[in-house]
Amino acid sequence: MPNVPAATVPDVTVPDVTVPDLPDVPTVIVLGSINEDIVVRAPRHPVPGETLLGSSVQRFPGGKGANQAVAASLAGALTLMIARVGDDISGSAMRTTLHAAKVDTTYVGPCKHDPTGTAVIVVSDAGENTIVVIAGANEKLRPVHVDDAFDAQIAKPNDVVLAQLEIPIEVVSHALQRARRMGVRTILNAAPAQQLPDALVGAVDVLIVNETELATLTGDAEWTSGIANMSDRVGTVVLTRGGEGVAVCQQREIVCVPGHEVEVVDTTGAGDAFCGAFAAAIASGLGANEAARFANGAAALACTRLGAQSGLATQRDIDAFLSSKNVES
Ligand code: RIB
Repeated sequence: MPNVPAATVPDVTVPDVTVPDLPDVPTVIVLGSINEDIVVRAPRHPVPGETLLGSSVQRFPGGKGANQAVAASLAGALTLMIARVGDDISGSAMRTTLHAAKVDTTYVGPCKHDPTGTAVIVVSDAGENTIVVIAGANEKLRPVHVDDAFDAQIAKPNDVVLAQLEIPIEVVSHALQRARRMGVRTILNAAPAQQLPDALVGAVDVLIVNETELATLTGDAEWTSGIANMSDRVGTVVLTRGGEGVAVCQQREIVCVPGHEVEVVDTTGAGDAFCGAFAAAIASGLGANEAARFANGAAALACTRLGAQSGLATQRDIDAFLSSKNVES
């Protein structure tokens, strides 16, 4: 057996080691509604006074806020939601669904006296929908709930706050102004459309609307002039145009992203898929045009399944879909 020298402890001076801070991962903070969707399938939409026989009725998780939060999380963003549900079975089911999609629900509080929001949706054979929302607990979200979350330092400057208008507009305005003061990027999906107070508009970095919503906000039936005029008030305006794709307008300059052909089953939640994926892409550092390209893929995939959240796609699926369409993501 060879002579093995005894182990010696080398004379090493251990330098002071400073562990570097881990890079901050931007979070998408979604402020918005949570609904239970009751979805009825019918050959077409009934006209007033008409009774139609439908083919199915199903319950799905929904609400523009929840749909967008799940879309952002699946698209790869750390996601947290500020919202209200009822203290009822559907409220806890909606929270469970958000958890399953890895959305932080610390600030999704139960509301004692109001039920979880409900949406009644009719989807026609052409995949188009009509929606009636009963706000329930969503109406009880207050500025103090936003302050509770922000006071607990949920937001840092490179985060993104994403809101819609199915909750009281004064809460959205309060949250976006507070976010703006902190240097947090703000995205408003003005759906359902209503007139926006100047203080709110002044706190929006990116406004996302569809053509009907843009016309309501601007009073202009022509989208090209409507979006250009709106871009005088908000830095970036993103117009979702269904199968036609998306238009992004900054300082009156419009960039169009073409739509993708898919087999449409249900367009419910396609706009939410877009907003969530867009926010995730912005949080990851992409510019508005690139984020719109990515989100456009998410919206197309969302149309291929029944239910607002069932069609939401992961980052990997969106990337694969876009490369199958020869779009760089
Ligand atoms: O955008 C689709 C959503 O609108 C549905 O999930 C429904 O809940 C309504 O909020």
